[in-house]
Amino acid sequence: MVPPSKKKDLVSLADVASDLPKLLDHAARLKAERRAGHPRPSLPGRNLAMIFEKPSTRTRASFEVAMNDLGGHALFLSQNDLQLGRGESIADTARVLSRYVDAVCYRAFKHAAVVELARWASVPVINALDDEEHPCQVVADLLTMRERWDGRFPGHRLAWIGDGNNVLRSLMLGAAAVGLDLVAATPKSYRPPPEAIAAAHALAGRTGAKLSFVDSPADAAAGADALYTDVWVSMGDEAERNARETAFRGYQINDAIVARAAPHAFVLHDLPAHRGQEITDSVLDGPRSAAWDEAENRLHAQKAILEYLVLGA
Ligand code: CP
Ligand code: NVA
Repeated sequence: MVPPSKKKDLVSLADVASDLPKLLDHAARLKAERRAGHPRPSLPGRNLAMIFEKPSTRTRASFEVAMNDLGGHALFLSQNDLQLGRGESIADTARVLSRYVDAVCYRAFKHAAVVELARWASVPVINALDDEEHPCQVVADLLTMRERWDGRFPGHRLAWIGDGNNVLRSLMLGAAAVGLDLVAATPKSYRPPPEAIAAAHALAGRTGAKLSFVDSPADAAAGADALYTDVWVSMGDEAERNARETAFRGYQINDAIVARAAPHAFVLHDLPAHRGQEITDSVLDGPRSAAWDEAENRLHAQKAILEYLVLGA
């Protein structure tokens, strides 16, 4: 059996690297249109299947609202309610869903599962988070930074503080693709794998973006234009909770770390937050927090992604 080909997917942020500036411009336009009360129903009669193996607030709600705003429809399919949960193969699920819907988004435990779904689906597949990447999050993050930097990434430096996880891996690729310098403070044993770092360096070679790793959060934050953190224990890592909470102690964005950043610096968090662990209440709820705009931007970014993949727009 030969899998179908010739359609675009967003499995890795690298899949849209060269079109990121166009996607971000489009997301900004869609945001302005919605704010002006004129959302454009560009996907009437189109359907998005949303398969979730793990919980979600933002990704699920924003994809569903995005499809609704665009005049289409979204179907939420929990893994437990699908035959997939009883052993039907990903390939068969992909082929069947492709007969009903125009795109599938998939939140999976394993990256290989998203790759497999994309391989067999004849419609676009969107990675809604897995153990290696969270590309939709990073499109929204870049939109949030772009809004605060008048559309320009080069010349700015983002500091990541915490786990070398799925969000950092997509962020490394996204930053490299748009020419944004990124310095990540992570404990050495929690850095992303060498092949992920090499892939980001390869993209950075085209834009001149710098990517570096340091041990100390204070060093990463010094003079940074933005700070970003995420939970110490991602979904699927719960068995390592104790070891992780020990390893990441000190990898917290708090007022002292924010004070080391540039005076205009803002703080990102993809949410949900573990307040008191990777970020304090005072930072997340304070004037430097961009987390709520960042959460809103999931909606606008995903509309742009849906139009780009489904319409080729
Ligand atoms: N940031 C994010 O993806 O949140 P959810 O897990 O709530 O979708
Ligand atoms: N790194 C986190 C992100 C949650 C949106 C996780 O995978 O659980």
